[in-house]
Amino acid sequence: MCGIFGYFGPKKNATDMVVEGLKKLEYRGYDSWGIAYKTSNDIIIHKQVGKIGEAQITFGELEDAEEQIAIGHSRWATHGGVTQENAHPHFSEDKDVVLAHNGIFENYVELKEELLKKGHTFTSETDSEVLVHLIEDEMKTSNFLEATKKALSYVEGRYATLIICKSENMIIASRRGSPLIIGTTKDNKEFFIASDIPAFLKYTNQVNYLDDNELVAIDNTGARFINLISGEEIKKRNVEIQWVEESAEKGDFKYFMLKEIMEQKETLYRALNQEKDLIEKVADAIKNAFGTYIIGCGTAGKVCMAAEYMFSTIAKKHVNTAFGSEFPNYHHFLTDRSLVIAVSQSGETADTLEALEIAKSKGAKIISIVNVETSTMARMSDIVLPIKAGPEKAVASTKATTSQLAILMLLAYAVADKLADGKSLLIDATAQINDMINPRYEEHIRKIAEVIKDTESMYIIGRASNYPIALECAIKLQEVSYIHAEGFAGGELKHGPIALISKGTPCIALIANDDTKKSMLSNAKEVQARGGLIIGIAPERDPVFDYWIRVPDVGNASPIVNIIPVQILAYHLALLRSNNPDMPRNLAKSVTVK
Ligand code: G6P
Repeated sequence: MCGIFGYFGPKKNATDMVVEGLKKLEYRGYDSWGIAYKTSNDIIIHKQVGKIGEAQITFGELEDAEEQIAIGHSRWATHGGVTQENAHPHFSEDKDVVLAHNGIFENYVELKEELLKKGHTFTSETDSEVLVHLIEDEMKTSNFLEATKKALSYVEGRYATLIICKSENMIIASRRGSPLIIGTTKDNKEFFIASDIPAFLKYTNQVNYLDDNELVAIDNTGARFINLISGEEIKKRNVEIQWVEESAEKGDFKYFMLKEIMEQKETLYRALNQEKDLIEKVADAIKNAFGTYIIGCGTAGKVCMAAEYMFSTIAKKHVNTAFGSEFPNYHHFLTDRSLVIAVSQSGETADTLEALEIAKSKGAKIISIVNVETSTMARMSDIVLPIKAGPEKAVASTKATTSQLAILMLLAYAVADKLADGKSLLIDATAQINDMINPRYEEHIRKIAEVIKDTESMYIIGRASNYPIALECAIKLQEVSYIHAEGFAGGELKHGPIALISKGTPCIALIANDDTKKSMLSNAKEVQARGGLIIGIAPERDPVFDYWIRVPDVGNASPIVNIIPVQILAYHLALLRSNNPDMPRNLAKSVTVK
């Protein structure tokens, strides 16, 4: 997590550009922020607690030098509380070197002990600060670049770093495991280094991806890429990004979350518009694999669980699912005939990446279903199925979720040799979603949110593929409304959780028009008999519902339509409870730490 942004080039407003870039990266972490910039003989650091998006600060123009250098960081705390001291960037003790870091140096305790023995004093509780002290030590005998390379060889863990130094006009960026992309203008005179592309898309769409164990040194001669293991210089190919900058903006919407919920009418069509050959190639890989594992984290993890049901129902095929963080525990079963499918919006989630690294080391084939087609996950995969949802900025995933579900469902149909049937079902479901999401529908859900907004707890139940969707609904509600929400399999409620139901406890029942319907309605009645307030999400009204939210009857595609009203409900609960739905407390969009 954490967003980092650096600028090297002729623009005098470099500092304001860094602030602007950090605002676009704020979704990656937003508890504090800081910026460092070079003057002719000094480096100035400004840092503060709070969201950069709410900061009213301009730094003004920098000096009349040929190139300007500034770096910044928006933090999601891992090591050390949310304080100004722990905010990045960090100075070395002699105030010569400055660092911004995304990731975790896992061996920082040992490194810090050694540095303390040597007499270093630290100003923060972060793991990050050790690196800048190590560079300072190495600079006693080497220049800035060599010292940085040496210091990086001591740290373990995942990182993306930006480092500047008082005595040299250079930015050094390095990466192992955390994303870092270099944007370059066509004239090769200006460089933007950021955790994510939309942060600099306004200035250039020409990028270079830094890969693991690579470093780039940027000065007035250009960018030099170096492999940190071999020490050799490497040539990088510029890639042109097709995204238009506006697609990462809010437009007329107050929050990204609502914009992204509403976009599902179009994003689902885009997800379905996959090349037939590509879908069939992946379906063949699933058919031929000796064990398929579908893995993801958070919302993507729930999508994977839903896929297990879809493959069972549609393709009569068993696939294994696991959360990225748990998948390493299955490594005993992996062989070079295993297939691992990673599902991810960002393609940068550390837990999923680590799982893929383990799978790769066992020779397994890797396929990814990702939104960011240029992400680390995509680049380490044998086959990539792009979600095509466009930038998703709200922390709570919405449009990426439904697109992932749609693609996995297409795959299940393809494995059953019924791809055309699957596609026409999903196109029909999307058309019906188009009709469903309108202002009247949103207002109906907002009114239900008003009724339940003060509840302490709520529950969501579903069966079959709607069971993982109940779990995903709970995540949506927890993330943005901060209401204690839990999802259960409809049949499991009576085995314990029903004890939690008291008068007025809201319970959302996700109902599909299939052979689970009767049992689900019985489960809803059991909750109602204990005083629960039933919100039915179903194609048809039923007397057990205190409130009914209609969804189209779309057969196997029911999980895709059922999640959408809960996304809208969570959004309105967030607003009614005065929460910012785009930036929920304690969370970040892209979790690049383990
Ligand atoms: C974080 C986000 C979730 C997301 C999860 C996995 O926890 O807050 O919204 O589902 O990471 O992210 P990915 O980018 O791999 O889908």
